[in-house]
Amino acid sequence: MTDTLAIHGGKPLRERPFASWPEFGEDERKAVTRVLESGNWGGHPSPNQEALAFSREFAAYLGANHVVPCTSGTTALLLALQAARLSPGAEVITTAYSFVATAGSIAQAGQLPVPVDVLESSYCIDPDAVEAAITERTEAIVPVHLACSMADMDRLEEIARRRGLVLIEDCAHAHGARWRERAAGSIGDFGCFSMQSTKLLTAGEGGAVSARDDANAARLWSLVNCGRKEPGYDAFPERLLGHNLRITEWQAAMLREQLRRLDGQHARRSAAVARLEGLLADVPGVALLEADPRVTRRTHYQTLIRYDPRAFADAPRDHVLLALQAEGLPCFGRFYVPLHQDPLFAADPATNPAVGLGLDLREADFPVTARAAYHETFWLPHEVFLGGEEDVRDVAAVFARVQREAASLRERPPEGAPRR
Ligand SMILES: Cc1ncc(COP(=O)(O)O)c(C=O)c1O
Repeated sequence: MTDTLAIHGGKPLRERPFASWPEFGEDERKAVTRVLESGNWGGHPSPNQEALAFSREFAAYLGANHVVPCTSGTTALLLALQAARLSPGAEVITTAYSFVATAGSIAQAGQLPVPVDVLESSYCIDPDAVEAAITERTEAIVPVHLACSMADMDRLEEIARRRGLVLIEDCAHAHGARWRERAAGSIGDFGCFSMQSTKLLTAGEGGAVSARDDANAARLWSLVNCGRKEPGYDAFPERLLGHNLRITEWQAAMLREQLRRLDGQHARRSAAVARLEGLLADVPGVALLEADPRVTRRTHYQTLIRYDPRAFADAPRDHVLLALQAEGLPCFGRFYVPLHQDPLFAADPATNPAVGLGLDLREADFPVTARAAYHETFWLPHEVFLGGEEDVRDVAAVFARVQREAASLRERPPEGAPRR
């Protein structure tokens, strides 16, 4: 008996929404009131308290020496690149598979982003490709801990140390992830976090930079605050052209409350993802991205599912994606345009400052990135795993239904482009 897929007019398998994000309660209400009544709403450092408290609490959570809060993940990257004092036009090696801000911030800081391909196993930057891309002009590496993976920090730390390069971790997806028990953001010279609405730790907007060295931290505190030398940093000898990238007390207070929820949410998601893994074992052609045992705490900003079209009547990934979405499953396919194919990085100096620096990606070929983006992955957002067991069963049932009926996708290919 055929079961008409929702994309072909059948009843969607899941009609209720999945869990919503963010989670909040009385503690967040009290935090907002606390800030309101303090009359002290603006940016840190002084005389404000919430930002300073968040900085200390998040540093303790990460086991990092310093955390400087700021306005976003994009500005966190910009701040780290500036605090690292890289030469104008220096080459900075980064991954081809990330959000535009990863490479964009490098160009905005006045350096040249040099993208390289990712590893099949994690979709994070390939350390061999990093080694091969190093020139005498290379000064930094910016790996991204993508989705539910971590970059190979054993190799990257060793390469950075041996070649004298600054290591800046983009941790926008990885609040609390751990590599051999060291938190993402506490391993490199800097770690850059985004607290934008979709992220695992959020205040709607916001960011933070962790830093290992005292001097880098002092620069960061100055750079976020218009280049000022705040009380406590009088001994800081440098004069920096800074920005106003100060986090507000509202955001910092919210982040303090959200941080208290974070580990509980990680545990709930991990349990749900493990359940899904068990259920998907019965569905041909889809499997969770394998876990790396060196990641001693895996976090799930997005859960990556690898797709094998042979078990789906050779239907292209994007047709299956449209069918999954029509069944009521929030999920994505491409997620990011590979950097070398992003028109922003096309050779147009009017739109891309990196072109003026010599970036030309027209000949670039990053096959693993291209496969990940266009052919072989599904991305499931983290809130899908914050509901109950029934939600996980529905996720698996949606995949199972589309797999069983995949031949109909070949016969009647869905029209339109999937969201991301
Ligand atoms: C990998 C990565 N880096 C950087 C950023 C930038 O963060 P924000 O949006 O807070 O500026 C994001 C945000 O989505 C991201 O996913």
